Amino acid sequence: MAPSLSISIVLIAWATSIFFYGTYLDTPAQFVGASEPSALQLEGKALLDSGWWGRAKTSNASGHCEWPGITCNAGGSVTEIGVAFNLGVMSKLNLSSFPNLVRLDLHRTGLQGSIPVEIGKLSKLTYLDLSYNSLTGAMPLSLTNLTQLVVFNVSSNQITGPIPASLSLLIHLTHVVLYENQINGFIPSEIGKLRNLVILYLHSNMLTGPIPSTLGNLTNLENLILSSNQINGSIPPEIGNIRNLIFLSLWNNSLNGQIPSTIGHLTNLTFFDLGSNQIDGQIPSTIGHLTNLTILYLDSNQINGSIPLEIRNLKNLSTLYLAYNNLTGHIPVEIGTLNSLLTLNLSHNNLIGHIPTQIGNLHSLNFLDLSHNFMSGEPPIEHETVDKLQSLDISYNNLTGNVPNNYVSIKRVNLSYNSLTGPIPIDFDQYHTPDTLIGNKYLCGDTMGFPPCAPTSNKSTVTKVKIFVTIAISLGFLVLGGFFLCRCMVKETQFESTETKNGNLFSIWNYDGHIAYEDIIEATEDFDLKYCIGTGGYGSVYKAKLPGGKVIALKKLHRLEAENPTFDMSFRNEVKVLTEIRHRNIIKLHGFCLHKRCMFLVYEYMERGSLFCILNSDVEAMELDWSKRVNIIKGTAHALSYLHRECIPAIVHRDITSNNILLNNKLEAVVSDFGTAKLLDPDSSNQTLVVGTYGYVAPELAYTMKVTEKCDVYSFGVVALEILMGKHPMEFMTSLSSTSSQNMMLYEILDQRLPPPNHLVAQDIFLIATIAFACIHTKPKSRPTMQCVTQEFLSPKKSIAKPLHAVSLRQLRNQEMHMVACMRE
Ligand SMILES: *[C@@H]1O[C@H](CO)[C@@H](O)[C@H](O)[C@H]1NC(C)=O
Ligand SMILES: *[C@@H]1O[C@H](CO)[C@@H](O)[C@H](O)[C@H]1NC(C)=O
Ligand SMILES: *[C@@H]1O[C@H](CO)[C@@H](O)[C@H](O)[C@H]1NC(C)=O
Ligand SMILES: *[C@@H]1O[C@H](CO)[C@@H](O)[C@H](O)[C@H]1NC(C)=O
Ligand SMILES: *[C@@H]1O[C@H](CO)[C@@H](O)[C@H](O)[C@H]1NC(C)=O
Ligand SMILES: *[C@@H]1O[C@H](CO)[C@@H](O)[C@H](O)[C@H]1NC(C)=O
Ligand SMILES: *[C@@H]1O[C@H](CO)[C@@H](O)[C@H](O)[C@H]1NC(C)=O
Ligand SMILES: *[C@@H]1O[C@H](CO)[C@@H](O)[C@H](O)[C@H]1NC(C)=O
Ligand SMILES: *[C@@H]1O[C@H](CO)[C@@H](O)[C@H](O)[C@H]1NC(C)=O
Ligand SMILES: *[C@@H]1O[C@H](CO)[C@@H](O)[C@H](O)[C@H]1NC(C)=O
Ligand SMILES: *[C@@H]1O[C@H](CO)[C@@H](O)[C@H](O)[C@H]1NC(C)=O
Ligand SMILES: *[C@@H]1O[C@H](CO)[C@@H](O)[C@H](O)[C@H]1NC(C)=O
Repeated sequence: MAPSLSISIVLIAWATSIFFYGTYLDTPAQFVGASEPSALQLEGKALLDSGWWGRAKTSNASGHCEWPGITCNAGGSVTEIGVAFNLGVMSKLNLSSFPNLVRLDLHRTGLQGSIPVEIGKLSKLTYLDLSYNSLTGAMPLSLTNLTQLVVFNVSSNQITGPIPASLSLLIHLTHVVLYENQINGFIPSEIGKLRNLVILYLHSNMLTGPIPSTLGNLTNLENLILSSNQINGSIPPEIGNIRNLIFLSLWNNSLNGQIPSTIGHLTNLTFFDLGSNQIDGQIPSTIGHLTNLTILYLDSNQINGSIPLEIRNLKNLSTLYLAYNNLTGHIPVEIGTLNSLLTLNLSHNNLIGHIPTQIGNLHSLNFLDLSHNFMSGEPPIEHETVDKLQSLDISYNNLTGNVPNNYVSIKRVNLSYNSLTGPIPIDFDQYHTPDTLIGNKYLCGDTMGFPPCAPTSNKSTVTKVKIFVTIAISLGFLVLGGFFLCRCMVKETQFESTETKNGNLFSIWNYDGHIAYEDIIEATEDFDLKYCIGTGGYGSVYKAKLPGGKVIALKKLHRLEAENPTFDMSFRNEVKVLTEIRHRNIIKLHGFCLHKRCMFLVYEYMERGSLFCILNSDVEAMELDWSKRVNIIKGTAHALSYLHRECIPAIVHRDITSNNILLNNKLEAVVSDFGTAKLLDPDSSNQTLVVGTYGYVAPELAYTMKVTEKCDVYSFGVVALEILMGKHPMEFMTSLSSTSSQNMMLYEILDQRLPPPNHLVAQDIFLIATIAFACIHTKPKSRPTMQCVTQEFLSPKKSIAKPLHAVSLRQLRNQEMHMVACMRE
């Protein structure tokens, strides 16, 4: 209490007397008792006055050079400011006071207001990162005074106004990163003077006008992204001078004219996206010089002519998208030499002729879309390709011949609206829906709505009986309800409720809920692949925007899966569990359709996808900073604690993995995929088949097959470690028993892609690591309950004795008993 009181007094005193301030700062070397403060004292005053270091100050008042995020030179003058905590209005910091500042990194600190004009006073600044904040207003012209600037990053703010042409005076700039703002006006042609530029990111702004031809002078430029603006005019031929270009995205603009043939000079280019513009003319044959190209998108333009034969030289190409153009002629047989191709999409063009059999040489291909063309001849049957294909769409062509037998096993297939004839392959109806064949008038087989091939035989009667029985069973399942009680929720869902068209209220409906069903079919164009965003443990997940604007996720069982009792059960299980529970960290089920024709579940849409995917992308993993990771772990713990404690009977999820934890746009976690969840019913056996995911399943399940809540606790421990480490801890866990790993330090296992956690988050990380180790105990009894875990998270923080970098794993594991209070009971 005494120190904080004295500080308040100091704060009041400051207004009237600089003398007090000098003593407070405890910098006698500079303090000479004069009424004029020294330059160093002004630095300290500016930092203090910002109010941003309020908490830090009270912990050590012996000089601002020691405050978090501040670095000083030997003379005690501030050279770097780089903080990771929440700040406020940017003008609170008097930027006029830091003549020696070299680095200012305030990204993701919640900065508001406009960039102060005084920034121009930082004449020694080389690094400026204000990205991912809420800065508004235009870029001040005083930026021109930052003549030493090398990196300039103000991306992801709400900055308006044009790019100042005078930025071109900052000739040391190598990185200019302005994406995701509201910057308008033309790209100044003066930008061509920034000869040292390596990275220029201007995407997702409101830029208009042409691409200046002077960009061709930027011979060091490697990455150029101008996508999602309203840039118009044609691509200047000078672009071919940017010989070091590796990554070029001009996607989603209003560019017209032709692709300049000079593009062929960009031999280092690996990524080229020109999609969604108004480019016409032909694809230049010089494209064949881009031998490093791995991804080429030219889709959604008005490109005409035929696909150039030179495409055969693009040996590294893995993705080729030429869809939605006006391409004519045959598909060149040379396409069969592109051995690295994974995805080939030539749909929505005017291509004619046969599908070249050489496509059969593409052994890696897993996505092929040739739909909406004028192709004739027979569908491709080459086994090696077909067996690899995940998805084949050759609908809306003029293909003839039979449906190849080996198509039965392709996961997604669309042959509709062709001229295919003859019998439908055996079992095709088991794996695919009728819409995959519709519009082929002369198919037969007495199944999927097609007539019998020959006079009615015994077989067809059997089929009819089979279908009838299946429908009857499906209907039976619709009478769901009253499974179990859960005191954790208000039971508000009604199975017979249907919704008004376009209604935002999306509650549970049954298969009679025709209207809502139609909305979904319309929004996904009958589950068109383009809405598919992933394939889960069972079924595929689609994203759909309903007429009211609400975005939802749909999990749809494939026909084959729907008839597999295991998948079918999982699906019904998920409905059963999710309709009864409600928790902010558990995925919300908006509705479902359980019918032979439409097996799908409707969920809230989680914008950021699975935790697994985020951790596996370096860019996204960095966005997931330590405090967000801590929140995800806590959220998951709360969800599990709720399932285990508050639901009666308890629910065990049984498949907690990073894949089943989804994140919304605020990067908050929800637990999903309840297909394998089990109710621990006192009256029925808890013995079960082992389900779950390798690497997350508790070891005892291998021999006891007895499901308890502690199985989830184990998987939770694995996921928590995975979040801290940034990758699955499998290898690490197997090495845990060895002495060398015991001597490892905690910080060594933390995800190295993130900067080390600050001292506030470090407390949480310490606690989480301790708990995670307790959770992955081989003996279920030694693991804490989830309730215990959440209690620990909620109880006031104990401070760690040592700084994080001095904690070893051995100490952490010995700490367990002392840290986790509820485990001692
Ligand atoms: C406060 O900072 C001084 C250096 O200015 C350092 O010697 C001292 O150990 C710090 N005190 C604490 C409690 O961190
Ligand atoms: C900011 O600092 C400069 C120099 O240190 C000083 O002259 C000026 O008065 C300060 N401005 C404010 C608003 O405190
Ligand atoms: C930028 O520099 C010019 C010339 O040295 C000076 O007149 C102007 O005041 C400076 N602007 C700012 C905001 O510091
Ligand atoms: C800002 O841009 C620089 C240069 O590209 C980059 O190193 C830095 O990571 C960026 N900041 C953020 C928060 O992404
Ligand atoms: C920069 O590019 C423009 C347009 O392409 C050109 O006219 C000019 O000569 C170039 N400047 C230099 C210094 O090369
Ligand atoms: C395309 O760019 C416009 C801005 O010109 C933007 O509003 C729109 O969201 C972008 N489209 C996509 C799919 O990102
Ligand atoms: C490009 O857009 C600008 C402003 O939006 C317009 O003035 C200009 O005429 C357009 N140029 C072309 C070639 O379409
Ligand atoms: C292309 O990339 C290679 C290897 O990274 C590099 O040596 C070369 O300078 C780059 N530029 C050109 C024009 O080839
Ligand atoms: C591009 O390809 C050439 C020749 O194939 C190679 O020498 C060069 O290193 C490649 N550049 C890059 C950036 O991979
Ligand atoms: C595409 O080609 C067709 C037939 O060749 C032609 O009728 C149509 O006008 C073309 N569309 C565009 C946008 O060029
Ligand atoms: C489709 O093929 C048939 C038979 O080869 C032909 O008669 C018909 O004109 C073709 N239709 C189109 C739209 O090309
Ligand atoms: C199943 O587990 C729950 C919770 O652990 C327990 O209450 C119940 O008695 C068990 N049922 C059987 C049959 O063992």
